[in-house]
Amino acid sequence: MSDAIKVGFVPLSAAARGILVVFCDDSLQVGPATAKALGGAVELVKRAATAAAFKGKSGAALDILAPEGVKATRLLVIGAGKAAGLKANDFLKFGGVAASKLPAGTTTMTIMAELPDGAMTSEQAVAIASGLRLRAYKFDRYKTKKDGEEGGSRADISLAVGDAGAAKKAFTAAGHVVDGVIIARDLVNEPPNVLFPEEFARRASQLRKLGVKVEVLDVKAMQKLGMGALLGVGQGSARPSRTVIMRWDGGKKGEAPVSFVGKGVCFDTGGISIKPAGSMEDMKGDMGGAACVVGLMHALAARKAKANVVGAIGLVENMPDGNAQRPGDIVTSMSGQTIEIINTDAEGRLVLADVLWYVAKKVKPKFMVDLATLTGAIVVALGTEHAGMFSNNDELAERLLAAGMESGDKVWRMPLGPEYDKLIDSQFADMKNTGGRHGGSITAAQFLQRFVDGTPWAHLDIAGTAMGAPKTDINQSWGSGYGVRLLDRLVADHYERK
Ligand code: BES
Ligand code: MN
Ligand code: ZN
Repeated sequence: MSDAIKVGFVPLSAAARGILVVFCDDSLQVGPATAKALGGAVELVKRAATAAAFKGKSGAALDILAPEGVKATRLLVIGAGKAAGLKANDFLKFGGVAASKLPAGTTTMTIMAELPDGAMTSEQAVAIASGLRLRAYKFDRYKTKKDGEEGGSRADISLAVGDAGAAKKAFTAAGHVVDGVIIARDLVNEPPNVLFPEEFARRASQLRKLGVKVEVLDVKAMQKLGMGALLGVGQGSARPSRTVIMRWDGGKKGEAPVSFVGKGVCFDTGGISIKPAGSMEDMKGDMGGAACVVGLMHALAARKAKANVVGAIGLVENMPDGNAQRPGDIVTSMSGQTIEIINTDAEGRLVLADVLWYVAKKVKPKFMVDLATLTGAIVVALGTEHAGMFSNNDELAERLLAAGMESGDKVWRMPLGPEYDKLIDSQFADMKNTGGRHGGSITAAQFLQRFVDGTPWAHLDIAGTAMGAPKTDINQSWGSGYGVRLLDRLVADHYERK
């Protein structure tokens, strides 16, 4: 990455350096330390606000160059909107807005982490710092000429906070979560000639450096386990399939872990049921679920989460070939259940079937949450704002819903039921891999549910949120890293020893 952002913490009373960033609410009020820093410029801000019709709405910015009355080279006033009820996600956004105003080249910036009613909490200030880094992320590994001066911009940013020591400590943990999001984004953005199953497994294996136990199952090991559903998808590819199991034991010894399962289709051509050429290149991102699981395991291990966690990813490439699986083929999954292949492009559920069963049986987790860029239908239903959530467990679903609201990685619950389930019964096998056009995301989820063996489970269909979503204040990248912050929050809020 060519962008380097360095964030440090100083007391609110420290003298500001470089660009000064302050916050106001929707009645243009600022906090006491901010008022002091602005000094004679308070009136200037009022006039500029009127001139620019700036009303302090959440995330709006008023940019004043060479302001009179303050030392700063530039003054940026960011609206916090209504100060009551702000969520972590709002502070991330504020950081993103500040980062969006960084000019190319080398910059110094001071951000006053204060609202009208006083200093922000350390967590809030740290969320701003995270937002800065998330916004500044750029994937330019394959550009031989980088944007900006001398290969990019560098920023030295001071966050002025109530308790600099506490904020610095909190940022260490939060920084690991940002790293996790960036790892997930990098994986999704990588081209498919570089990131194929074996290479993906190698990258996941780097988690060993953090104390994560990583086990890689090769084709032979998977044959021995009877993973015929996953292996059928990969059999048309010159690149052999892999399954990777990652364990982080930060909790009580012997306590059942929580688990996360990711779809890792490194490229999805559709196979013999080949996709049209238009936008097929996007299918390099069909491993977004697996990327999220690796990013999440990084975040949890690096911040030494006090929980036992297992991540499992099924890695394949779905190609048309003389050896590829055909529509009409019947495969036997690890569970023993047989599957008639109707459409080789409905491959994600086949991969997950064996990995979910493996985790349910071998790991016996408290719950499983799977993430998968599973269906185009979920993009039609929910667009790019929410991931579709399907669950057999109301408590888990409600916790995910709340973690989504707080983190900004939002989920929306969708239905399951026997009427949908029967749509995937097959005349030749125990089930078929598609259920027709109607409710396509739901029948896909029903298929997965046949492989969870009663384990509390939630499925997140992230086809609309993991890649290609519109750019936001905190994400300018094609691969969004969706889900890392959601699930880190889920674990932190409910499954860590205090
Ligand atoms: N990976 C695709 C789903 C997808 C589509 C993800 C668009 C992201 C953007 C998945 O493997 C797929 O091809 N699903 C089919 C299922 C159908 C054949 C039942 C789909 O959604 O069309
Ligand atoms: Mn497909
Ligand atoms: Zn796919």
